[in-house]
Amino acid sequence: MIEIKQLAKQYGNIQAVAGLDLIIDAGEIFGLLGPNGAGKTTTIRMLTMLTRPSGGSAFINGCEITRDLGRVKKEIGVVPQHINLDLELTARENLELHGRLHKMPGAERRRRIQELLDYVELADRAHDLAGKFSGGMKRRLMIARALMHRPGVLFLDEPTAGLDPQTRRKIWDLIRRMNGEGMTVLLTTHYIEEADALCRRVGIMDRGRLIALDTPAELKKKVGEIVVEAHKQGETEYRFFTGREQALEYAGNLTKNVTIREADLEDVFVELTGRKVGD
Ligand SMILES: Nc1ncnc2c1ncn2[C@@H]1O[C@H](COP(=O)(O)OP(=O)(O)O)[C@@H](O)[C@H]1O
Ligand SMILES: [Mg+2]
Repeated sequence: MIEIKQLAKQYGNIQAVAGLDLIIDAGEIFGLLGPNGAGKTTTIRMLTMLTRPSGGSAFINGCEITRDLGRVKKEIGVVPQHINLDLELTARENLELHGRLHKMPGAERRRRIQELLDYVELADRAHDLAGKFSGGMKRRLMIARALMHRPGVLFLDEPTAGLDPQTRRKIWDLIRRMNGEGMTVLLTTHYIEEADALCRRVGIMDRGRLIALDTPAELKKKVGEIVVEAHKQGETEYRFFTGREQALEYAGNLTKNVTIREADLEDVFVELTGRKVGD
C-alpha cells in the first residue's frame, strides 16, 4: 500500500530523514516510534506532499508522491501533529470546508458530515465552534475531517500527544475501529505503550534512520524477553534473557537488589540506541 525507497530530506546540514526504505501493507496499523527530532514528522510530511523529498521516492497505492499529486491526495487522509482546525468555524463547518475542497457534491457532503460526526461522537456538538473544544474533541474532529473524502490510507502524526489517558484510549479505539473497517494506518508516536498497544509492526526511528523494524513481540524477543534489573547505589544495570530460568539463575548469583520482569518496547529502544525515548 505504501512503498518507500531511499526517501531523504535534508534541511541545510541537518539530515532529517536519511534514506528510508519501508513497505507498509494494506490494512495494517504501522507505527513510527522515536524520540523528538528522529524525523517522524518529516517522513509524514513528505508522504503527504507537504514537503518535497531531497531524494528517493514513495508510492501510495501505486502512485508516486511527487508525480501523481492529484491521485495521491484522493488516496490519503492526514491528521497533522499540530491542531490546524479553523477554530472560528463550527465542527460541521470545518468538515464542510474540507468536503468542498475535495469537490464533494452537496448531498454526499451533508450525508458524510452527519455520518462522521456520529462516528467520532461529536454529533451533539456539530454547531459549536471548534475553538471551544477540548484537546481530545479537536483531535477527533481532525480525524473526521481526514476521513471526509473516504481515503484508503490515514496518516496520523502523534495522534494522542498531550491527551489524558482516558482520551488517549478513546482515540486508540477509534483508530482500531477505522482499521477494522479496512483503513491502512501509518502513525507516529513517541509513546512506547501506544506503539505496543496499537501497531501490528513498529519501525524505530532515530536520527533520521530506521534502526529496527518488526512486530512489538519480535522486537522484544530480539533483546530478550526477560529483564533482570540489578540496583546498586542508585545505578541500575540491565541484563536481557530469552528464558525465565536463565534470568533466575543469573539473578540468584547477584548480591545486589534485583527486579525480574518482562521486557517492553522501551527496553528495545534503550538497547538499540543506548538512550531513553524521552532523552
Ligand atoms: N522546516 C524545518 N527546517 C529545518 N529543520 C527542520 C525542519 N523540520 C524539521 N527539522 C529538523 O529535522 C529533524 C527531524 O525533525 P522532525 O521530523 O520534526 O522529528 P520528529 O517528528 O521525529 O520529532 C530535527 O532535527 C528538526 O529540527
Ligand atoms: Mg514530530
